[in-house]
Amino acid sequence: MFYPAIRKVLFQFDAETIHELTIKGLKKSGSTPLNAIYKQRVTNKPVKVMGIDFPNPLGLAAGLDKNGECIDAFAAMGFGFVEVGTVTPRPQPGNDKPRIFRLPEADAIINRMGFNNKGVDYLVSQVRAANFQGVLGINIGKNKDTPDENAKDDYIYCMRKVYNFATYITVNISSPNTPGLRALQYGAALDELLSALKTEQAQLAKQYGKYVPLAVKIAPDLTEEEVQSIAKSLLDNNIDGVIATNTTLSREGVEGLEHGTEQGGLSGAPVKEKSTTVIRLLAKALDKKLPIIGVGGIASSSDANEKLAAGASLVQVYTGFIYQGPPLVKDIVNGI
Ligand SMILES: Cc1cc2nc3c(=O)[nH]c(=O)nc-3n(C[C@H](O)[C@H](O)[C@H](O)COP(=O)(O)O)c2cc1C
Repeated sequence: MFYPAIRKVLFQFDAETIHELTIKGLKKSGSTPLNAIYKQRVTNKPVKVMGIDFPNPLGLAAGLDKNGECIDAFAAMGFGFVEVGTVTPRPQPGNDKPRIFRLPEADAIINRMGFNNKGVDYLVSQVRAANFQGVLGINIGKNKDTPDENAKDDYIYCMRKVYNFATYITVNISSPNTPGLRALQYGAALDELLSALKTEQAQLAKQYGKYVPLAVKIAPDLTEEEVQSIAKSLLDNNIDGVIATNTTLSREGVEGLEHGTEQGGLSGAPVKEKSTTVIRLLAKALDKKLPIIGVGGIASSSDANEKLAAGASLVQVYTGFIYQGPPLVKDIVNGI
């Protein structure tokens, strides 16, 4: 694997142009012999979480394959699970470009993509076309132009569409790039949303004769009291798992760097401690009654082990993968 050399070339270009080209290449090659370029064998490290058997505890975090176009390619790289999305009911363009910025001195990214995606019907068509038989998370959100008071309807709409195709469903209420979304993390708004989604899940479980777990993805920018309150809502509503965390609004660790003041969510090394802190607080509040998927700044097996030690049962990567490519998957899984 020559990822450092490939990265040098890739990083000469605008981040989103390269992202789009890479997705196209992975989509074309994913289930063909061309996938030999990135296909690798990783150690089997089976783990059961949310009632699901995972071949290893490392997953691809949401947002890289928003439309589910490269599932076979990411599976070939050795990920134990792949999370696609965030997908919304209707296609939407997202925010104006440029909207994704590399901060290589900090091993970080700032993005304000704004849920650009081709809509849930397209995503389902891609999932159906994939050969993948492994663990697939589908991450759902709301359209930007759906009024906040109707957010619930968007989640339910997506849930119905993806239920039969997902191994688990992630409810994303923590992107900083959709105005109003993070407000769903608090108090009555959260309880109301979760209780509606649980009711829907029960109906869909009956309809399809299978139970698809629901995980909720939360932000790193929460106080201890807020984490405790979220934990209580998750338990009260019998949610199946929690993903911690999304990107941060903080700019700690990128002060003075080129692009350091861009708007959006910061990911990578600067969010690592924040996310581990949230995991630790969650673990305490949840008392092992609900599993945690840890994500934020993982760039090595020791980072992954830190998340597991803090209380996570599974981990995911995004930014670390952009900087290190497929070899990181092998390094992490082998070192877990
Ligand atoms: C460019 C970009 C786009 C993202 N899009 C999404 C998304 O659509 N849905 C989501 O739940 N998280 C999204 N994320 C957040 C990641 O899934 C992850 O939670 C966060 O980046 C922290 O992990 P990391 O430090 O390994 O990147 C995105 C992150 C980046 C960098």
